Amino acid sequence: MICYGGESIKKCGVYDEILEILNENDKNIIEFTGIMPNPTYKKAQEGAKIAKENNVDFILAVGGGSVMDCCKIISVQAKTEEDIWKMEFEDGKLPKEFIKLAHIVTASGTGAEMNNGAVITNEDKKIKAGMMGALADFVVLDPTYTLTVPEKQVISGAFDTLSHCMETYFGKPSETNVSDEITEAIMKNVIKNIREVIKNPKDINVRSELMWDSSIAECGLLKLGKITDFQAHQIEHQLGAYTDCNHGQGLAIIHPKLYRHIYKENISKFVRFAVEVWKVDNKNLSKEEIAEKGIIELDKFIKEIGLPTTLAELNISDKEMLRKVADSSNITKGCAKQLSHDEIYEILLECL
Ligand code: NZQ
Ligand code: ZN
Repeated sequence: MICYGGESIKKCGVYDEILEILNENDKNIIEFTGIMPNPTYKKAQEGAKIAKENNVDFILAVGGGSVMDCCKIISVQAKTEEDIWKMEFEDGKLPKEFIKLAHIVTASGTGAEMNNGAVITNEDKKIKAGMMGALADFVVLDPTYTLTVPEKQVISGAFDTLSHCMETYFGKPSETNVSDEITEAIMKNVIKNIREVIKNPKDINVRSELMWDSSIAECGLLKLGKITDFQAHQIEHQLGAYTDCNHGQGLAIIHPKLYRHIYKENISKFVRFAVEVWKVDNKNLSKEEIAEKGIIELDKFIKEIGLPTTLAELNISDKEMLRKVADSSNITKGCAKQLSHDEIYEILLECL
């Protein structure tokens, strides 16, 4: 079963290539299409039903994070009569059986190809949550497939990679270990290549670097020895559940505001971030001043690359809704400061 979203896989040429290979090998093929950005639980259920009815024995997910995540859940839901949401979140059980799965990545940034986490929106419950799905048997990373991705999506995807790095880096413990030093290298590489991709959108080396950065950031390597933060992600996911906003854009708005609330609780790491990643001149400055300068540089970079910095830019202004977003956001253990739901609401208001 070949699964994809809209028409993009046809435009970038990968669809014809896949069909040719599968036909040459006499495979029976069915298609499951229309997987939307921010995939819904309903859509995954729909895919699972088709997979079951057709005794599908292999799922090929062709697309970005949304297609890959949806397929991870199709793969497990098609193998059980139990409702996977209930099973994972209410009964505390994890799926054990999977339909074999492979990912062909056409839009990079999430690193979803490297793990079995699937971020799925349950529209009825108004929750966008990370579920446990299937891990792929193999992944194809060919940067040429990403050449047709619109610039806005390339940048928001790459910012998502930077976010995954920061969410890991600012986790616990605050002492710098080798994982953090590798993360610094990835952050610098992502920043450099976002600037490059804006100048030279068709440069395949740049696409290749961003694609590999994305995979490294989510393969687990950077997280070794860390309790990750991911507080910005938790807030963004709920913002997504209520507004269906673009993931990377939502993160770009939230990160600097959130960091102004937490940096004092992890000052040495924010100082290091400013100096190592943003090359902030730290002469005659206090630790607080250096850390603040790092956050200002992050903010400036977000503006420079054309990502939104306010919710207004996404036409989001409903305070009542933001209160619900705040109240339904998970509080993470790895965040330097344990936020309250009220403080998350305050952060969201600052994002307006
Ligand atoms: O619908 P199609 O035609 O596929 O178009 C897509 C979609 O409109 C388009 N696109 C993909 N490849 C293309 C292309 N357009 C032209 N040429 C190509 N080669 O890009 C648009 C966005 O695609 P989407 O898959 O939604 O983007 P992304 O890769 O950023 O994935 C976002 C989803 O991943 C989740 C997010 O929450 C969001 O739901 N995440 C998954 C993670 C994971 N599983 O590890 C981690 C992340 O933190 C993230 O939460
Ligand atoms: Zn992300």
